[in-house]
Amino acid sequence: MESSDPLLPPRTVADSRSEMTELILPNDTNTLGNLLGGRLMHYIDLVAAMAAYRHARAYVVTASMDHIDFIAPVHVGDLLILKSTLNRAFRTSMEVGVKVWVEHTVSGTLRHVASAYLTFVAIDSQGHRVPVPPLEPVTEDDKRRYHDAGRRREQGQLERERKRSARSGAAAGRESATSV
Ligand SMILES: CC(C)(COP(=O)(O)OP(=O)(O)OC[C@H]1O[C@@H](n2cnc3c(N)ncnc32)[C@H](O)[C@@H]1OP(=O)(O)O)[C@@H](O)C(=O)NCCC(=O)NCCS
Repeated sequence: MESSDPLLPPRTVADSRSEMTELILPNDTNTLGNLLGGRLMHYIDLVAAMAAYRHARAYVVTASMDHIDFIAPVHVGDLLILKSTLNRAFRTSMEVGVKVWVEHTVSGTLRHVASAYLTFVAIDSQGHRVPVPPLEPVTEDDKRRYHDAGRRREQGQLERERKRSARSGAAAGRESATSV
């Protein structure tokens, strides 16, 4: 597995951990008064990008939102709390995990409503990919997330390879069908 640039000083998960809070207003919701899924994905992308920026200290682009679970609806008037952590840094890419809660405005209790994994790629101002610093997992949770991110990367790479082969196979089929 390709690793991040060993010449860059390593950073910890705490160095880039990020948090965002949003009050859900009628404009963010559907006709039932529930937060739109697309709006929630936008918030997830933003809070994840904050952690990626803080880790890479470079421009970053979203390469993929690998997995998202919408566990429970979010209603108008809810306080949405989003937290992001760097799970692992590779060569130019980083996996970020996001967990989302709703805070009950009166009782203060928290309800887990969504989780997601995203991959960002660091680039320079010309759009060229740049290496990112290694991530140093410190706590047991950091180590578990680091290990799991490696497993997800291997699965993602296999899946992208499979799609690439399927696309080139289909293109070759079209070409032979049209040639005489
Ligand atoms: C993401 C992007 C930079 C990858 O560029 P590429 O030339 O395809 O790069 P490569 O295939 O050589 O991969 C570069 C890195 O990205 C990772 N990567 C590429 N596609 C990925 C994907 N779909 N999911 C996760 N990681 C991905 C690779 O694993 C590699 O990581 P590494 O350097 O840490 O080993 C490019 O596809 C891009 O610019 N996409 C548009 C990004 C964007 O506009 N995002 C906002 C969308 S609205």
